[in-house]
Amino acid sequence: MATWDLSETKHHLLICNGSSCNKAGAEELTQAVRKEISDRELDDIIHTTRTKCNGRCQDKCVLIAYPKGVWYKDLNPEDAPQLIESLMMNAEFNNKISHCFDGDGFKRQADVPVGDFKDRERVKKVSKLL
Ligand code: FES
Repeated sequence: MATWDLSETKHHLLICNGSSCNKAGAEELTQAVRKEISDRELDDIIHTTRTKCNGRCQDKCVLIAYPKGVWYKDLNPEDAPQLIESLMMNAEFNNKISHCFDGDGFKRQADVPVGDFKDRERVKKVSKLL
């Protein structure tokens, strides 16, 4: 357990550890990202959180960077150095972006699958609403 001081944090990475991403190597990705951050002594600047499913399983492994609002797809442990470098250079790791927030909404990249329409019954089932 921890209660970190976030006052120096500039980037928050949500690393999907849902079942689809885990089957595709999310644990190894999580370890590689955290090691890269630690090796560069960026722990105060970049905060990471493991999450459950983020609802974009087809894009596994998924990682979301805030506050920029960039969703990454198809990540593997070898991507960790370039991902962290791009954050520090205030650039995007372009070839692995699935969606970007443009101030109005999340815009999907052209080569990324649209995904399923969120009809109420399906959302209830997937979300396990009571
Ligand atoms: S398990 Fe990662 S998006 Fe669903």
